[in-house]
Amino acid sequence: MKKVLFVCLGNICRSPLAEGVLKNYLLTKGNRFVEVDSCGTSRYHTGEQPDPRTRKNAEQNGIVLSHQARQLEDKDFIEFDFLLAMDNSNVNNMRKLRSFEQNRNKVSLLRDFDPQNPGADVPDPYFGGDRGFQEVFEIVERSVISFYSEKLESIFRSY
Ligand code: 4NP
Repeated sequence: MKKVLFVCLGNICRSPLAEGVLKNYLLTKGNRFVEVDSCGTSRYHTGEQPDPRTRKNAEQNGIVLSHQARQLEDKDFIEFDFLLAMDNSNVNNMRKLRSFEQNRNKVSLLRDFDPQNPGADVPDPYFGGDRGFQEVFEIVERSVISFYSEKLESIFRSY
């Protein structure tokens, strides 16, 4: 079993989308050996479901999102195998938690796996228009799929 945690700022736009995209992809692959969750470095939106604009865009792409926003906790660095941040400011916020340094090797940017623009930030669509949500969806989808083939597919095959 491997555990993946997507991290953004509010946990209502980018990271719950990445969570939904990976869960959906695992279902299509029949891979039951991966657990997926998401969280935010802030507690601005704790308890809320994903932003209605994110949910609408995801549904237009065939993915129904359901997640209660929660804040990143120190124990997440212990419990999860992969912590994938949406942008560099998320990583800077993660650094403030006690267990970050010891688990630095579990942390990467989601877009380290983006074949089109590796290492870039996933743009924050919260203050932008509708165009932003589809752009974010496409970035997240291709990065999640390439993360899966690099890090999760081989594990699945070995079970
Ligand atoms: P997310 O987007 O980090 O992708 O969930 C944001 C959501 C809310 C805020 C910022 C970013 N906010 O400032 O409330």
